[in-house]
Amino acid sequence: MNHQISQGERLQKVLARHGFGSRRACEDLIAAGRVSVGGKVAELGRRVDVACDEVAVDDVVVGVRPGLVHYLLNKPLGVISTAHDPQGRRTVLDFVPSEPRVFPVGRLDSDTEGLLLLTNDGEMTHRLTHPSFGVEKEYLAQLRGYPSRSALNRLRQGVCLTDGLSAPARVVQVEPNLVKITIHEGRNRQVRRMCEAVGHPVLRLVRTRIGPLVDRSLPPGEWRELSPTETRSLEVAVAVR
Ligand code: URA
Repeated sequence: MNHQISQGERLQKVLARHGFGSRRACEDLIAAGRVSVGGKVAELGRRVDVACDEVAVDDVVVGVRPGLVHYLLNKPLGVISTAHDPQGRRTVLDFVPSEPRVFPVGRLDSDTEGLLLLTNDGEMTHRLTHPSFGVEKEYLAQLRGYPSRSALNRLRQGVCLTDGLSAPARVVQVEPNLVKITIHEGRNRQVRRMCEAVGHPVLRLVRTRIGPLVDRSLPPGEWRELSPTETRSLEVAVAVR
């Protein structure tokens, strides 16, 4: 018998811990041939070494490596998203545990509020921030003045910025001066520059969604760990298809 395979944790136990349901439900997933280890379809009874085996369900890799953490923070106004500020201002890292060391996934301006993900999962960070994965980010922007239908359409179609045309955005007018803008690029101060370009500078900007992640009840300055289901929804959102 292969020594490596007879050791380690039972695959259904690992899957159950990562939000795929009860151990029994996870056995059913394995029996249905939907689970692979190291690229090979796993059989019932399979054990895995979570430190090095690559486990996938429906061809989407599951982050089973021990020690991975994913925090969702509601960033308050005036806090910066870089790991260190030479001017000594508060950074988002001051709000979350210092161990294990995590990093913000992308940035929010200091004057932007709302959801920010922090993690020590480098691959996830890369995929969430790389434009080719196209993960949506949704913002609520309070604007100066009342945008006309044509201003809203310009935002939808893409506006000319100093670093090129912005990609088409989804824009919903929630109130006369409040718009919900969904983009999948992450350019510097993008939403502010887009709105400014159509004549309506942003007065207040709040990020309300990152891909599948939303949380309307997390108070500013508070953070929480993602649930296994949320982590899985992110894995699916950034999967290579
Ligand atoms: N767009 C902006 O203008 N600022 C942010 O912080 C995020 C997106």
